[in-house]
Amino acid sequence: MYLERLRMTGKTAIVAGGGAGMGLAIAQAIAEAGGRVAIVDLDKARADKAARDVSAQGTGVMSLAANVTDSKEVDRVVSEVTARWGGFDSMVTVIGGQQGIAPWVNAGETKEADWEKLLNLNLTHAFLLAKAAMNHYVKRGVPGSFLSISSVNGLLSAPRHAAYGAAKAGLISLTRTLALEYGNKGIRVNSIAPGTIMTERSAPGYSEADIKRFNGIIPLGRIGKTEEIASVALFLLSDLAAYVTGQTVVVDGGVMATYPFSLQKADS
Ligand SMILES: NC(=O)c1ccc[n+]([C@@H]2O[C@H](COP(=O)([O-])OP(=O)(O)OC[C@H]3O[C@@H](n4cnc5c(N)ncnc54)[C@H](O)[C@@H]3O)[C@@H](O)[C@H]2O)c1
Repeated sequence: MYLERLRMTGKTAIVAGGGAGMGLAIAQAIAEAGGRVAIVDLDKARADKAARDVSAQGTGVMSLAANVTDSKEVDRVVSEVTARWGGFDSMVTVIGGQQGIAPWVNAGETKEADWEKLLNLNLTHAFLLAKAAMNHYVKRGVPGSFLSISSVNGLLSAPRHAAYGAAKAGLISLTRTLALEYGNKGIRVNSIAPGTIMTERSAPGYSEADIKRFNGIIPLGRIGKTEEIASVALFLLSDLAAYVTGQTVVVDGGVMATYPFSLQKADS
């Protein structure tokens, strides 16, 4: 009974940012659970390659090149997926991060234009996707779900992360508001707040010394993997999480459980 409810057979998911990193891992998890996946990515070659890899699971896969920070592109994605498969049941977005937009500087040195770009990338695009998904589910009259990737940075703060942290905190708030507004239609809205995860994008930024330092801080003793985000995503999208909405699930190897001033050290 439980494993059956984890299956995505007969369901369609759109994964924005599905060409790489956590998005690709989530697309793979959905396909492995029997679901159809539309992989949407800014980078066409990446989306096409991801679709080829995911289609090895034998379920329906399509790739779409689109910039989901643009509402017209979001509408096009929804129309193309609906034309192909009649609609969709889950919308996932992993889009975000810094993407080289601005240097990590204090708020006083942050340019207004960079603040706006980072908010657009980490928060506004999710509003556009969520708006399209909510309207699609309501029109179709079927329950659906929306899942975003926020960050522990939206729950706790770090220096030189003013725009990123504010955007991720906004995304967590948006998650709760949507859950309240659409819960009575059977629509569920959740977010995953990752800690430090090794992805194609983040890997080059870590020196051996950084990795050693992270391993020493993270209670589980290591940086996380994309498939460890995908497994929680699959649960949240599946019927196993039928009574879970408005939540931000922290997947950080235990970092958020840490009391920074503790004098007690873990046994080595
Ligand atoms: N890696 C970490 O340690 C970490 C920690 C906390 C939160 N996060 C969050 O996790 C999310 C995913 O990170 P990742 O490293 O897996 O992602 P990533 O940077 O590898 O991006 C995933 C894909 O999204 C695509 N993409 C980017 N902008 C797009 C756009 N406007 N439209 C369509 N596609 C677009 C990229 O081409 C890429 O293929 C981000 O929101 C990030 O803020 C990451």
